[in-house]
Amino acid sequence: MPLQQPASFQKSLIQWFSKEGEDYPWRQTTDPWHILISEVMLQQTQVATVLNKGFFVRFIAQFPTPADLARADEQTILSAWEGLGYYRRVRNLQKAAKAICDYHEGIFPKQYEQIRALPGIGRYTAGAVASFAYNQSQPIVDANVARVFSRVFDYQERVDTTAGQKQLWSWAEQLVPAKNARAYNSALMELGQQVCTNKTPKCETCILKKFCSTKDPTSLPKKGSAKKTVLVDEHCILAIQDGKILLHQEKASARRSGMWKLPERAHHQLEACPLLSKSTYGITHHRVTLRIYDTRNISIPNSENPEQEKWHQLEELPTLPMPSPFRKVLDTLLADLF
Ligand code: ADE
Repeated sequence: MPLQQPASFQKSLIQWFSKEGEDYPWRQTTDPWHILISEVMLQQTQVATVLNKGFFVRFIAQFPTPADLARADEQTILSAWEGLGYYRRVRNLQKAAKAICDYHEGIFPKQYEQIRALPGIGRYTAGAVASFAYNQSQPIVDANVARVFSRVFDYQERVDTTAGQKQLWSWAEQLVPAKNARAYNSALMELGQQVCTNKTPKCETCILKKFCSTKDPTSLPKKGSAKKTVLVDEHCILAIQDGKILLHQEKASARRSGMWKLPERAHHQLEACPLLSKSTYGITHHRVTLRIYDTRNISIPNSENPEQEKWHQLEELPTLPMPSPFRKVLDTLLADLF
């Protein structure tokens, strides 16, 4: 049990990490603003996507300080986030940037409570910034850490409940070292990513084996059943006239607020229109089938919300923030058509 020998548990993790830890770009900086950006990106986007497509490096080059993001307009920040999805995250990041400018003179706060008080920053993110940027002794629990702890402690209760979270955070608090929290927290997270994996944990080579109580790692952590996937159809039109394309802007209340996409129409309005493309994409617990219809030689069916639609020059397309599934389809269709 690690709680009986925390120093040995910590040392095993830190030693392993010094040999096996990945050298991610956000581990080559101690700038709290850059670390916050990486954590927000990594919340709902895979490490490989953030890395391979260069999102992190590009974003910090565009917004090197909180003031740079605070003063950017909505379309600019949405475009910078394009391809990462879950656009509420970049709005929250901008709210945090504005709070840093308004209440901390543009200097990222050092105190844990002040970091935690920034808009959109929860317990995990505050702990990650405090430990990764400042090496402060603050615990973190993300999905990786939850998996490691639930197995090490052979925790048979659900982790996605208030009581389960309380237990995980309590273990995290008791085990985070006074010194070296940066390396320790990184190690714990990385062990969950590389070794203590969901389906095929590498227990034989795991450096925590001697601390680990579970006999059945793949049965842990216990969770309530996942939300059922809901199938959705989206019927959109490609309307192009005189070098212009008709686009629809999501309204303020929508999840993709401010972003542009192809206008939707009711399926029955599109019977006479040729189908140009059919693709699918996932968003939260939805599986969306996106169909695009050609209206170029047919009068465009009426919209229920004409005020949200606007004709744009085709040349403007690259500068308009657009959800990835639409960007992909449009790039393909326009390459074929022109
Ligand atoms: N996922 C979330 N934060 C991370 C980090 N700092 N390193 C690797 N994966 C992560």
